[in-house]
Amino acid sequence: MGYNIGNLKLKNRILLAPMLEPNDIAFRLLCKREGCGLTYTGMTSPLSKKKLNLEDKPALQLFGNSVKGIKNFMIKYEHSVSLWDFNLGCPSKLSKLSKHGAFMVEDLAKIEDILKIMKANTKHPVTIKIRKSKKAIEIVQLAERVGIDAVCIHARTVSQGYSGKVDYNFALKIKKESSLPIIFSGDVNENNIQNILLDFDFVMVGRSCIGNPNFFAIFLGGKDRVNFFDYLELAEKYELPFKQLKYQAMNFTKKNKNGKRLRKLLIGAKNVVDIRGIWDNNT
Ligand SMILES: Cc1cc2nc3c(=O)[nH]c(=O)nc-3n(C[C@H](O)[C@H](O)[C@H](O)COP(=O)(O)O)c2cc1C
Repeated sequence: MGYNIGNLKLKNRILLAPMLEPNDIAFRLLCKREGCGLTYTGMTSPLSKKKLNLEDKPALQLFGNSVKGIKNFMIKYEHSVSLWDFNLGCPSKLSKLSKHGAFMVEDLAKIEDILKIMKANTKHPVTIKIRKSKKAIEIVQLAERVGIDAVCIHARTVSQGYSGKVDYNFALKIKKESSLPIIFSGDVNENNIQNILLDFDFVMVGRSCIGNPNFFAIFLGGKDRVNFFDYLELAEKYELPFKQLKYQAMNFTKKNKNGKRLRKLLIGAKNVVDIRGIWDNNT
């Protein structure tokens, strides 16, 4: 069975939420291997010159406060992505300072300009990711008007950041008032995912799968198949920086019975050999 966002057919309705730090290419590939319907990159500036690894054909999330660079960036990566997303939900201090993410929701004219440019430069679906705000319904209506293919709602306000209760009723209201497919984001876990899928078209999994790509396999009925060494192998193949490897090594300890000990030892790791040795000797 296929599930559609615009002209993109997905094999299931469980997506990897965009997350800047955790979603490196190695991690995304493992999530995909474990069955995830679509992986997202973290927020990416169209002005960035950083080399991108997009072997998993992800949804690429853009952010920014102007149309500058969007067209050229999209032309460059059009063949490497499955979908384009635009971030209207980032609550960070940096977003506040440069008025992007959740801090541009008052500027509907600018959002419209950006979304129109995005739609005009791709054959892939274009989606947006928003938070709970007074402007949310207006933005969804704008999205419908300019031909956006789906909306992701993380039903927390900017001031909530990533904590506090997700306003499920607010997300339901967005679903009720829109004809677009709605992707639900916020505290999705193994216990609530099935119920959320009754109310929404797609769900995004964020923190529940950090360091745990098996989340997707577990839920989709597969076996626990990948571990930190699979991550390490891919991370080395894609030459990810040591800092990232150490960060993910810490993340993967979450699901390990010796997690506490591993984390303590990993603090002192100076190179990949140290990390490998610590995992080898303690798991
Ligand atoms: C470490 C981290 C990085 C994130 N980076 C992004 C990002 O780049 N773009 C975005 O739209 N949301 C980002 N988010 C928000 C998630 O996509 C998601 O909406 C939020 O964490 C709620 O879902 P969860 O409770 O399943 O984690 C990030 C969240 C975390 C925890």
